[in-house]
This record gives sequence, C-alpha cells and structure tokens, in this order.
Amino acid sequence: MKVLSVVGARPQFVKEFALGRALGDDHEEVLLHTGQHYDAELSAVFFDELGIPEPDYQLGVGSDTHGRQTAECVVGVEEAIESESPDCVLVYGDTNSTLGAAVAASKSAPELVHVESGLRSYDREMPEEVNRVLTDHAADVLFAPSERAAETLREEGIPDERVHVVGDVQYDAILAAREHARSVSTVLDDIGLSPGEFVLATVHRPRNTDDPERLTAILDALASADSEVVVPVHPRTEDRLRGYGHWEEYAERLRLVDPVGYLDFVRLLDAAARVATDSGGVQKEAFFLDTFCLTLREETEWVETVECGWNALVGADPDRIATGLAAPTPGGSKPSLYGDGTAATRIVDVLEARLTPDEVDPNPIRDR
Ligand code: UD1
Ligand code: UDP
Repeated sequence: MKVLSVVGARPQFVKEFALGRALGDDHEEVLLHTGQHYDAELSAVFFDELGIPEPDYQLGVGSDTHGRQTAECVVGVEEAIESESPDCVLVYGDTNSTLGAAVAASKSAPELVHVESGLRSYDREMPEEVNRVLTDHAADVLFAPSERAAETLREEGIPDERVHVVGDVQYDAILAAREHARSVSTVLDDIGLSPGEFVLATVHRPRNTDDPERLTAILDALASADSEVVVPVHPRTEDRLRGYGHWEEYAERLRLVDPVGYLDFVRLLDAAARVATDSGGVQKEAFFLDTFCLTLREETEWVETVECGWNALVGADPDRIATGLAAPTPGGSKPSLYGDGTAATRIVDVLEARLTPDEVDPNPIRDR
C-alpha cells in the first residue's frame, strides 16, 4: 500500500508520528509538509524529537489568508498525487492544510482518508469547523475517535460503511511519549518549576487572540492564580499581545516562554496542577495525563471530557476561570473515552483490508 500523508501544522506532526509508526516498513509512506507551520519550534522540533523522516515534499505555503493558504495546498498536493499515484491520501484534523489536501485528493486520488473525523463544535465562526465538515463530507474513509463522533457523521448522512471507530491517534502518541518525556525532558528544571505546583496555559484561537478584551480577561484571570502560570506562547498570540502593547505587562505577571517541543510539552502537561487552554489537542492530552483542564472556550468538540468531569468550559470569564483553578481534581475512576492506544494500528488494518487487493488465484476457474 502506498500512502501520501499530508501534514502542515503542529498537531498534525504528532498525529502523523502515530500513523507513521504503525505503517512501519510494510507500507510506503510519502510525506508531504505543506509548510503552514515553518518556525523551528512549531515544526522542525517535532520531526527531530519524534524521529519523523524528512518530508518528501515541502510546499512552503507559509502564512497567508485562508483562501491563498488553502489554495496553495490544493495545487501542491494535486501535483504530488500526480507524481506519486498513491493508493490513498491521509489527512489529519481540521487545519487549512487538511482542507487543501482534501480538495485535491477528493478529485485526483483513489481514496481520501480523514483521521479524526466527526468532531464538531457547531461554531461556524471557527475556521476549523468549516475545514472538518467539508473534509468529512469529501472523504471516502473516515476514522472517528469515539462512537459519538461516528454518530455525528451518521446524523449528517455519511454512509456507515465509510466510518470506522478506532480511538484517538494522539492517545497512541501520548502513551509512547509520557515515560520518555519523564526521563529526558529537563523543562521543569529549565523553567524552575516543581511538579504539581504550577498551571500550564496555551491560547492561540483567533476568537481569543484577536479580541483584546477576551485575551486580557483570560490572562488577567490566569495571573491571579495562587501558583505560577507558564504559557508557551504561540506566535499568533505573541504578535497580538505586542500589537495591543501588553507584552511587557504580561511578561512580568506570567511566565511567557517560547513554544516548546512535544516532549517538553508532555512533561509540562503531565506535571501541571491544572491546564487552561483553547487548544483541541491539549484538552484530550490533559485527560490522558490526568490533568484537570479548563477550556478557554464556550464549546468543545471533545464533549466527553467535560461530561466525565475532567474538563470545564470556562470561556474567557474571570470568575469561571478562578473557580476552575481552585476546584479539586476529579476523583474516582476515569472512563476510557478515546480507545486503547492502538488507533493507528487499527487505521492501518482497515486501510490494508480495503486497499491491498486479494491475491488472485492463478488457476483457471475450471481447475479449482
Ligand atoms: C493553525 C490551525 C489551527 C491549529 C493550529 C495549531 C488553521 C485555520 N488553523 O492555527 O486549527 O489549531 O494551527 O497550532 O489551519 N506563524 C508563525 N510561525 C509559524 C506559523 C505561524 O509566526 O511557523 C504566525 C503567523 O503570523 C501566522 C499566525 O502565526 O499568520 C497563524 O498561523 P496559521 O498557521 O495561519 O494559524 P494558527 O493560528 O497557527
Ligand atoms: N504542543 C507542543 N508545544 C507547545 C504547545 C502544544 O508540543 O508549546 C503540542 C501539544 O502537545 C499537542 C499539539 O501541540 O500535541 C497541539 O497543538 P495546538 O494546540 O497548537 O493545536 P490544536 O490541537 O488546537 O489544533
């Protein structure tokens, strides 16, 4: 089986890591990096730490408007499909790289495969919501992390035979990284943090960063936490904070640091007393690592984490953020929400069964 795997933004490198391992040497994986993320700390560090091979294609699309960024992905992925003739194109999650690859593959590849299907925030203002709905509806094979995600796809009229519930590939990645991060990461010492005695925070959604009132409400609420708050700052957020003239103020009140590599991030999340985030992936990873999560949004795609009490939707509301920071860590047993850490292997099994032709019996019918 020959697979063209398309990545472009930070969370997709983590998802591809899980898939690449499961594909192993039995299959050919051609790796295409759209270049949506290009800074070393958002891209190269993941390849280095996770041992992801050098991409076969680098489109270099960079930062641009949604239309131009997506369009460049469409053109570049189409060209790669023409050159490589893969059996399928694998796309991950919900970024502009995902959508661009989906548009190209739905027209020119034998199969478009979407990893992380069926997630919905029902907020059409989020670019990711548009990307994931369009990608799901264009895909030939859809891998859902949970039964609920599969049910959502059914409700939207996607035929059952296209949908497979396999669990979440980021769980596979966390299981591979957690212990390793504990032994190799020096991030706690580097920043001067003690396990269980700090809050980790990430903010990068335009809804939060592009509205100065929301952004300052969130950061003010975090700054009033009893413990230290460390914030690996996404470039979009740094750009906005500097633009609003608030960078210096928050650099004094919070530990603003550059984005960290995956192993350091897993270590921080594992050791944090709490995490506050508007990230999709970090909400899940917090659940996997037993860290209570405050989600800095009004809604989430990962509803199961809220229902079981490990995630609280606090928006940009200072009171809800303060309450969440002070709340006790949930007790009792945790449900298994997103599979058993073998999502990537299951995906490869499904694709193998679908795409690898059965051996043809060489004997003529009358000799059988
Ligand atoms: C993108 C995804 C989002 C995902 C996030 C993961 C879309 C629409 N958004 O958001 O779903 O959660 O990646 O982190 O696809 N920039 C740099 N260096 C880089 C990359 C970006 O400085 O290497 C800056 C640029 O100013 C750019 C801004 O960050 O304009 C936003 O980058 P972009 O890739 O457009 O969106 P993200 O916010 O990263
Ligand atoms: N991450 C990281 N370093 C950071 C912040 C996040 O390695 O400084 C990882 C995190 O562990 C997760 C992924 O990046 O695997 C999430 O990316 P992000 O929050 O940017 O995107 P989203 O999941 O919201 O699309």
